[in-house]
Amino acid sequence: MRPAIGIDFGTSNTAAAILRGGAARIVPLEPGQDTLPTAIFLDYAARRTVFGSEAVRSMIDGQEGRFMRALKSVLGTSLARERRQFLNRRLTLLDIVSEFLAEIRTRAEAAAGTEFRRVVSGRPVRFHSAHPERNAQAERDLRECYHAAGFEEVRFVNEPEAAARAAGPGQGLGLIVDIGGGTSDFTLFESQGTATRIVASHGVRLGGTDFDRILSLETVMPLFGLGGDLRKDIGPGRHPVPRALFHDLASWEKIAFLYGPATLRDAQAMARLAVEPARLNRLVRVIENEIGHDVAFAVEAAKIGANQDGGAEIDLTLVEPGLRPALTGAELAATLAPSAAAIRAEIAETLTLGGVKADAVGRLVFVGGSSLLSAVDAAARAALPAAMVERSDVFTAVVRGLALATAEDG
Ligand SMILES: Nc1ncnc2c1ncn2[C@@H]1O[C@H](COP(=O)(O)OP(=O)(O)OP(=O)(O)O)[C@@H](O)[C@H]1O
Ligand SMILES: [Mg+2]
Repeated sequence: MRPAIGIDFGTSNTAAAILRGGAARIVPLEPGQDTLPTAIFLDYAARRTVFGSEAVRSMIDGQEGRFMRALKSVLGTSLARERRQFLNRRLTLLDIVSEFLAEIRTRAEAAAGTEFRRVVSGRPVRFHSAHPERNAQAERDLRECYHAAGFEEVRFVNEPEAAARAAGPGQGLGLIVDIGGGTSDFTLFESQGTATRIVASHGVRLGGTDFDRILSLETVMPLFGLGGDLRKDIGPGRHPVPRALFHDLASWEKIAFLYGPATLRDAQAMARLAVEPARLNRLVRVIENEIGHDVAFAVEAAKIGANQDGGAEIDLTLVEPGLRPALTGAELAATLAPSAAAIRAEIAETLTLGGVKADAVGRLVFVGGSSLLSAVDAAARAALPAAMVERSDVFTAVVRGLALATAEDG
């Protein structure tokens, strides 16, 4: 059988693992790390592409170029196939995903000392929850990217089903609750010792990058002018500041495409007409200095900090000296409440799909970085009152299961 690798291409983090002696073994993609940030930087000065933590560092250091994160979110959308100019290259976002996956293959081959032409890749149960056609297209897009990256055989396994395989032995019903960067995924499974049977899987396009966007629109974008009024160009009267630009600036996968003369002109025009120009001048600075990703990282860091420590500051001092709005744990919980309620409803839906009552589920296995949020944790526990909670390999359970799945084909 040709050697195969399991790859969990995540919205925020990517991991690889192989099967050795019947057990899953992580293949480090960065020295000493189990996962690599799904981040890419097209470095214009050096004319090369950098990946993972190095890409994040290049962006933070303010190198000239284009930074991209959350590219998984564009799979299945028209944005994925639009050609754009990046310095001297015309590329689609699928070309960039392909480059990223080729780099993963190269690094994994170097670390494992093996060539990989077969991959078992994770996929969310639903890339797009409301659009079946986009959902199917997203898988076709990702398959195309793996082929362009040099993989000849590509098989997809639902991410939470992979995590269920990796969950370890047990008895009776369990539920994987995988709340990641882009999607929330659920698998109801039944264990008999080491044997695992998948009962039902379900998913929704809602994850940590959405939480970042919601939080940014509520707490940061108003400081940049959202919610204010503009004077009419001609004549008396006012109208609200248009929302679209703020929405894109708060969305990880859209930020890179805001930089350019057209958006800057729009922002400057709004600032000229603003009733409170000081706020919109901050927006102009963000676009002009290309620091939208820095703002998004500040929001994400405050989300994690407020969740862990009960409060945090959103560090926007790059936008304006001293600008450091506070975020309390209670404010974070209130902001996340509708999302947590949605996750709880999707868990109930998963149980319905499996024909199972909540109190029959004995194990609740948390997976994914966003499962560490108290609001999410509480919502899932409330949905499964009889379950024992397990949370260990939140960032690697999926890829371990994918490595186990490589044993099945070839
Ligand atoms: N300690 C933490 N507390 C809260 N959220 C966190 C924490 N650590 C990471 N996150 C969030 O978890 C998300 C990333 O989780 P994960 O790596 O599981 O996602 P992913 O697998 O890349 O995404 P997906 O599976 O949806 O494609 C990010 O949105 C990040 O902000
Ligand atoms: Mg994931």
